[in-house]
Amino acid sequence: MSHADDHDGSRRDFLYYATAGAGAVTAGAAIWPLVNQMNPSADVLALSSIRVDVSGVEPGTQLTVKWLGKPVFIRRRTEEEITAAREVALSDLPDQSAENANLPSGTDASDENRALDEAGEWLVMMGVCTHLGCVPLGDAGDFDGWFCPCHGSHYDTSGRIRRGPAPTNLPVPVAEFVDETTIKLG
Ligand code: FES
Repeated sequence: MSHADDHDGSRRDFLYYATAGAGAVTAGAAIWPLVNQMNPSADVLALSSIRVDVSGVEPGTQLTVKWLGKPVFIRRRTEEEITAAREVALSDLPDQSAENANLPSGTDASDENRALDEAGEWLVMMGVCTHLGCVPLGDAGDFDGWFCPCHGSHYDTSGRIRRGPAPTNLPVPVAEFVDETTIKLG
C-alpha cells in the first residue's frame, strides 16, 4: 500500500466516523423525549433525591445544581444578606406566602420561613423565574438578590419577588441538612 492510499484510507475513516457520530447524536435527541414520556416514573425515581456537598461554598457565593431537570440555587449568605432579608416588612412583599415545600401552605414569607437553617446562613431555592421560567442571575438586581433579565424581575436576598412581572417568590424545595456539609434535596 502506498503512502497516498494510506492517507486516503484514514481520511475516509475519519469522515465515516464523523458522520456516524452526528447520526447517533440526532437519534439520541429524538428518542429521549419519547422514552422520557413513556417512563416518567423511572426517570423521576432515579433523580428524586440528591445529596449535595456544600463544604466548598464560601459566604456570599452560591452553588447551582441540577435537580429534576431544573437548576437549584444553594446560597451561603453573608450577615449583610441575612440582615437585609430579615429587615423587610411582610407588607412590602408582593407575594406573602413562603413558597416553602418544607412548611405547611399558608406560612408567611418571612426570611425565617424560607432559610434552611435558623441562623439563615443557607438559602435553597429553585433557580427558575416564576414569570416564564428563565434562570435569574445571582448578586444582581435592585435588591441585591437575584435578577431575571428576561423581563426584569428583581428578587431580594431571600429570593422573594420585589419588582417586575414575576408573580411569586422563588420556590423553596424539600431540603435538609443530613450532616454538617451535606444538603439533601427531595
Ligand atoms: S422569565 Fe423572568 S422576568 Fe420573565
